[in-house]
Amino acid sequence: MKVEFSAFPRAFTGNVAMFVGADKQLQATAKAIDTATGGALGRAMEASRFTGAKSKTLTVLGQAGYGRLILLGVGKARELDARTAEALGGLVVAEADSAGLKAVTIVVDPVKGNRLQPAQVAAHIALGAQLRSYRFDKYKTKQKPEQKASLEQVTVVVAGPAEARRAYAHLEPAIDSVFFTRDLVSEPANVLYPAEFARRAKTELTKVGVKVEILGEAEMKKLGMNVLLAVGQGSERESQLLVMTWMNGPKSQKPVALVGKGVCFDTGGISIKPAGGMEDMKWDMAGAGAVTGAMRLLAARKARANVVGICALVENMPDGNAQRPGDVWTSLSGQTVEVINTDAEGRLILCDAMWHVQQKYKPQAMVELSTLTGAIIVALGHERAGLFSNDTRLSNRLRAAGSEIGEKLWRMPLGPKYDKLIDSDIADMKNVGGGREAGSVTAAQFLQRFVQEGVAWAHLDIAGMAWGKGNETTPKGATAFGVRLLDTWIANSYER
Ligand code: BES
Ligand code: MN
Ligand code: ZN
Repeated sequence: MKVEFSAFPRAFTGNVAMFVGADKQLQATAKAIDTATGGALGRAMEASRFTGAKSKTLTVLGQAGYGRLILLGVGKARELDARTAEALGGLVVAEADSAGLKAVTIVVDPVKGNRLQPAQVAAHIALGAQLRSYRFDKYKTKQKPEQKASLEQVTVVVAGPAEARRAYAHLEPAIDSVFFTRDLVSEPANVLYPAEFARRAKTELTKVGVKVEILGEAEMKKLGMNVLLAVGQGSERESQLLVMTWMNGPKSQKPVALVGKGVCFDTGGISIKPAGGMEDMKWDMAGAGAVTGAMRLLAARKARANVVGICALVENMPDGNAQRPGDVWTSLSGQTVEVINTDAEGRLILCDAMWHVQQKYKPQAMVELSTLTGAIIVALGHERAGLFSNDTRLSNRLRAAGSEIGEKLWRMPLGPKYDKLIDSDIADMKNVGGGREAGSVTAAQFLQRFVQEGVAWAHLDIAGMAWGKGNETTPKGATAFGVRLLDTWIANSYER
């Protein structure tokens, strides 16, 4: 789908989306078209419940000289923010695709009292439109024409299109990387297993200048990553460690490490999961997907930062060779781990990956993303990812980056009392707490035992955010949560 910015034409034709403020305040374009159509827009509003409330729309059809006329509720003028603009762009795309439109014009009337400049509004509309246009339909062989995406061209009309283009140039690079991550996360596990994930990452990221290394089981064995390997030992697919480096910052700047959980399929292993909903566990590699997408984005926009991304890629399967509950392993850190539940596998692969990246790259900060616990969904639902950290400044910067782009985080607690819950009778620690209580916290405590002195660390539990029912800017399915968050955090914290 193409997005273009253009100046106000003398008159509008075709499919036009235009602003209406709260309390049916027709903005300039809507007013003009209302007049041109003999009051059709006003009558449509009278016949409906549309009031111009934020993110509500009303479609008017059958007006001579026009196609679809889409009224976009912007709500109170002062409140038209970037998020709302993105939502409006996304809503227009959704409607255009379901109506079979090929082209649509979205008009950015300057809204009185709004702090956001029209160029910014236009740029964010374009971003929302693009993000919503994503489809994963490669396995649909029988789509009827009316089921396929129809929209080819979005024209955003704004006074000062050049300025809008400049604003959009800062937002646009994210789109391809978000789509790349959504593709990885959407692929079924028979197609996307550890080696295939690593291969795709290498192909795509090498193109933009990221250095990509892939370690197989023999190399990881040599290093001593026994805990990671234990998770994958019941699988026919070889475990992989994907290491991506983008060192484009000052030589003196210690790198930032991004770590991702890449369980390409999580059956639970011998502690097998119930059948219902198990198919969801194909997206148990969304943390790795986000890290890989973020690395791609950093390189694509030539970020002035030193960043290393590391993904632990495995498949967690039951098998004659699978690890058993009760098994004890020596991790790369030297600490021993008793495996009580083979379904708590994320922390097992992450502990060795985290230790390796700290040992080898001496990062100043390490942010890890994982679909780690069902418990975080109980706690926070699908609104916010859980944030666990040993560093308040890092936490605040991550939260700020999240609010800036609309990927929200909520800081969760850590502490010695929680930490005690994972003490083991036989080893240094066990991989689950006693019961189900504070399940996300005990998972984080486990990870914290693998954070080295002086490293600012954050763990984002994205189990509730990686896959969604769909909203204005994200179609149903993989969200790519974390890609833009990590990029924005790095831009704000290390590049200025
Ligand atoms: N991948 C799951 C967590 C998960 C659950 C992600 C639902 C997304 C949706 C993780 O590996 C897991 O199985 N966690 C267990 C931990 C338990 C055994 C302590 C869980 O949350 O039940
Ligand atoms: Mn599991
Ligand atoms: Zn898992």
